[in-house]
Amino acid sequence: MKAVVFRGVGKVALENVPEPRLKEPSDAIIRITSSAICGTDLHFVRGTAPGVKEGRILGHEAVGIVEEVGKAVRNLQRGDRVVVPSTVGCGSCVYCRAGYHSQCNVANPNGPDAGTVFFGGPEEAGGLDGLQAEYARIPFAAAGLVKLPEEISDDQAVLMSDILPTAYMAAVMAEIKPSNIVAIFGCGPVGLFAITCVQHLGAGRVFAIDSVESRLEMARAHGAEVINFEKEDPIQALKDATDGSGPDRTIDAVGVDAATAAKGPAADKKAQKKFKKELGGIAEEGTPKGRDFQPGGAPSQALQWAIESVCKAGSVSVIGVYPAPVLSFPIHQVMEKNLTLKAGNCNHRRYMPEMVELVRSGVVRPEQFLTQIKPITSAIEAYRAFDRHEPGWIKVKLDPTQQEERAA
Ligand SMILES: NC(=O)c1ccc[n+]([C@@H]2O[C@H](COP(=O)([O-])OP(=O)(O)OC[C@H]3O[C@@H](n4cnc5c(N)ncnc54)[C@H](O)[C@@H]3O)[C@@H](O)[C@H]2O)c1
Ligand SMILES: [Zn+2]
Ligand SMILES: [Zn+2]
Repeated sequence: MKAVVFRGVGKVALENVPEPRLKEPSDAIIRITSSAICGTDLHFVRGTAPGVKEGRILGHEAVGIVEEVGKAVRNLQRGDRVVVPSTVGCGSCVYCRAGYHSQCNVANPNGPDAGTVFFGGPEEAGGLDGLQAEYARIPFAAAGLVKLPEEISDDQAVLMSDILPTAYMAAVMAEIKPSNIVAIFGCGPVGLFAITCVQHLGAGRVFAIDSVESRLEMARAHGAEVINFEKEDPIQALKDATDGSGPDRTIDAVGVDAATAAKGPAADKKAQKKFKKELGGIAEEGTPKGRDFQPGGAPSQALQWAIESVCKAGSVSVIGVYPAPVLSFPIHQVMEKNLTLKAGNCNHRRYMPEMVELVRSGVVRPEQFLTQIKPITSAIEAYRAFDRHEPGWIKVKLDPTQQEERAA
């Protein structure tokens, strides 16, 4: 089958690989009808989230049709149309039962404290092959896969595999109260969906910060007040717009590939130097040569802005991904301002039934953010364009069933 394969920092390839087989009685094999590229995949290719094995199939977002189930899978059968939660939980341990699927005690073969298991990630995340492929093996299928109602299209459902529940959890972690002012750093798919989610939870004013104009346009179209951090100092702009106090809640939807301002009033040469050093400590396996897949260059910038801009006694939600190597972290400000900080990998399965209802009822229309649909045969070009934040490239679906281009 065709699959997108990690070939070391800076290198992704479309390859022919063997089809997966059932390994455990609790597995299912699905035929993938839609997959997608995520900002998380970019961290791996850029070298800022090390640990992915060469040859690993990438991708953790998919919709598919069940082909085959193991003996222990009693709720699914061949032909069922399902959405795959990006993270894998057993569904039975104390953590899964409490809704913390990303903290499952059982799913990670490296042990209960080894961390979240997800498809197409580093070895420490379970070493599972990913979903940018024609077929995939899904462990703990009975507890993970969610059957889709007919009214929900693949274009909608593929965004429910990771991005929508993730943005929703970011909003929940931000502890939104009615009329709160919220600032969201990052207008990639996660940040854009977070705008809709915080609005749904009752936020008042919502600010969205990025430097990519086409993404800021999309944020504005969804009701956010936008700030380009290369035209204005985002901290000052947020203070000025909030009576001097700063927003009540901030969300970091950027993660380790954050950039700092290269121009404008927020550009700071001293900070740029510090970030360069920080990046050196994180990208243990090096960073790509050439133009493509370059790291953001300022790993802790978004996290720092989220903490610096939030009002005293405010809440900060960190959904952007940070790998194991230590970043500089403004713990002093967290103390001094009596902040609440919540962070984590999404417990996708916990939120999925609710997301299905939000989409079915039309409250959320995820397909609005799906700007590109590409056949899997164009995956490598699609990775490059998504990496470069080309205008209009917000979210890319990869279609393993399609051999020709069609409009999104
Ligand atoms: N915790 C989870 O479970 C989970 C799940 C999915 C994705 N994520 C993470 O969420 C983050 C966002 O994902 P995405 O797919 O939207 O990524 P993306 O790369 O498409 O978007 C990131 C955006 O942040 C902007 N940005 C860079 N530096 C910034 C700064 N200093 N301030 C404000 N904006 C800045 C970029 O221009 C870009 O538009 C990634 O770190 C991804 O790994 C986490
Ligand atoms: Zn993702
Ligand atoms: Zn579990």
